Amino acid sequence: MSTPTIHKGLAGVVVDTTEVSMVNPDTNSLTYRGYAVQDLAAHCSFEQVAYLLWHGELPTPQQLAEQNDAERSQRALSTDLVETLLALPDTAHPMDTLRTAVSILGATDPTEDVNTVEANQQKALRLFAKLPAVVALTQRRRHGLRPLTPRDDLGFAENFLYVTLGEVPEPEIVRAFETSLVLYAEHSFNASTFTARVVTSTLSDLYSAVTAAIGALKGPLHGGANEAVMEIFTEIGSADRAEAWLQQALPEKRKIMGFGHRVYKNGDSRVPTMRQALQEVAELRNGQQLLDLYEALAKPMYAAKGLHPNLDYPAGPAYHLMGFDTPVFTPIFVAARITGWTAHINEQLAANSLIRPTSVYSGPAQRAVAVA
Ligand code: ACO
Repeated sequence: MSTPTIHKGLAGVVVDTTEVSMVNPDTNSLTYRGYAVQDLAAHCSFEQVAYLLWHGELPTPQQLAEQNDAERSQRALSTDLVETLLALPDTAHPMDTLRTAVSILGATDPTEDVNTVEANQQKALRLFAKLPAVVALTQRRRHGLRPLTPRDDLGFAENFLYVTLGEVPEPEIVRAFETSLVLYAEHSFNASTFTARVVTSTLSDLYSAVTAAIGALKGPLHGGANEAVMEIFTEIGSADRAEAWLQQALPEKRKIMGFGHRVYKNGDSRVPTMRQALQEVAELRNGQQLLDLYEALAKPMYAAKGLHPNLDYPAGPAYHLMGFDTPVFTPIFVAARITGWTAHINEQLAANSLIRPTSVYSGPAQRAVAVA
């Protein structure tokens, strides 16, 4: 028997086609349904991008108005859900709270097991509408504050900031936040999206697929990196210490969070747009020291390892300056990526084939059971 080639970590393995987005590492480009992500960030609201990911086309004004009405009317969490989430221990990471919230929202949805593309569209919108309130709850409880009632007179990004921070910040901050949501919305067959597709491929329900995806995103090699970037910045302290810190960290084989990418080897296509957004937030929020640290670490990192920053590198400090606590950075990523995940879940469901790879056995040779 010939020895099969093993693709550790599925690196370079093409498992399916997708119409949702295209990552092109040769040209450092990312498109959603054919539109460059930079153009979407510059010209579209996050609600428009969500519609595009779900339906394949940008919405007409009427389609957008209908989606907005449906989204705004579902933003509030039930009292039962709020009290259950607040009963979790203070030590629970906000990602655990989010994962639990999605699981409860599934268990309380009478259509949970109606596994059709149409029913999933409604479930996707429901989660899209409610996740900001869950993220907000996790931050506010950290400060001893009760949840706020979402406002249906505000757009998605404005309301998200309002329910979390208690006020709608300057339009430039709202725009920078919305940019981050657009950039985080979708990224092809990344680990969490693939997880969602694996679960869907067993014909399990959307809430189960999203719950599993949240688990995959939590890890620091994936979405958890935006929190880890801020922890590293705190550890380093100031720009003048960055190079010496790196010279000590690299020989210790530490992974420097916010750098490197499985697909992009010449730079993450989303970083210039988010770096610009970070700059705008820093100007308004006295963030020059953080910007200096950003550059002071990025330059020697590239010189030492040839590694470029990924999206989490500018997103982490931008969220910090906007007023978010570090443990809610990855939950914000979830509230954005729910759009891409659910687009993929429906794409998988519409042309399903069970995802089930094989492996090469490397344990002991077959042996007899000898029980004493
Ligand atoms: N810091 C230090 N060394 C690194 C880093 C890093 N961030 N990234 C890669 N390397 C090194 C590895 O140690 C390895 O070196 P070696 O060959 O001497 O052992 C080499 O580069 C290849 O690294 P792999 O981990 O095999 O590369 P892979 O393509 O599998 O990894 C990954 C991609 C997991 C993202 C990696 O770059 C990493 O761990 N980065 C830090 C975590 C991070 O920022 N994740 C966010 C991803 S983007 C997102 O989710 C929005």
